[in-house]
Amino acid sequence: MHDRARDAAVTAPAADASSGEPLLVVDRLVAGYDKSEVLFGVSLHVRPGEVVAVLGHNGAGKTTLLKAICGLLRPRGGEVSFGGERITNRDTASNVEDGLVFSPADAAVFRELPVLDNLALGGFTERDGQARQQRLRDVLELFPILAQRERQVAGTLSGGERRMLSIGIALMSRPRMILLDEPSNGIAPGLVDRIFAQVRELARAEGIAVVLVEQNVRSALRVADRAYFMRSGRMILEEPADVALARGEWWDLF
Ligand SMILES: Nc1ncnc2c1ncn2[C@@H]1O[C@H](COP(=O)(O)OP(=O)(O)OP(=O)(O)O)[C@@H](O)[C@H]1O
Ligand SMILES: [Mg+2]
Repeated sequence: MHDRARDAAVTAPAADASSGEPLLVVDRLVAGYDKSEVLFGVSLHVRPGEVVAVLGHNGAGKTTLLKAICGLLRPRGGEVSFGGERITNRDTASNVEDGLVFSPADAAVFRELPVLDNLALGGFTERDGQARQQRLRDVLELFPILAQRERQVAGTLSGGERRMLSIGIALMSRPRMILLDEPSNGIAPGLVDRIFAQVRELARAEGIAVVLVEQNVRSALRVADRAYFMRSGRMILEEPADVALARGEWWDLF
């Protein structure tokens, strides 16, 4: 049953929060598939340059939340606003144009095309050719493996390489916010922390806001500013990432 008091445990902040206006505000979002409800009034906010981890058990609704934010899934209730504008139910293409991109866990790439063409497609919304080139240099610097494999057809990349390419495609659009669904998926443990550190740096240097959905809790908390914990379609806790990291053990929360 819908429990309003419990749902209100994590609520959207006032717009004039002292540490700056949030770029994304999700307010009591309700969403699901066919007859099944998955999100029961989920709220979160993210400021520019902030890395926010969203953590929770399998099936908690993390991916559903990202899809409902970016327009891949139509919310049944609640509101999403981005840059002060209400975007609930806005289509995904308009969200990308506006700088809100989703990078799915299953590494969405154009399998028939070489790495460079994949990245070019990611940057199609950038009309300035020079800016596009610069962006390409930035992405190849972030993921040097992609530079080594730039002529290789994406379908023949390893799983980890494909995941990096899919993040690269998302970054090519020069987003204001990136919703990263399990970026560590399929990536060797040694590389995960390096990629997360690069994501952190991107947020710091360019003010990109990041929502980081992860199974790899410790690695995510090390680079995040704040963390939200989800359980069965509800936000049960929001706290600074360093506080969550000090906890050391999170399974009781999941
Ligand atoms: N397309 C769909 N149709 C019907 N049910 C779905 C669909 N996608 C997800 N679900 C269900 O919604 C619930 C939440 O799924 P979701 O993918 O959001 O969880 P998650 O937190 O991302 O889990 P994981 O950590 O395993 O990725 C699950 O019970 C799942 O079975
Ligand atoms: Mg998921």
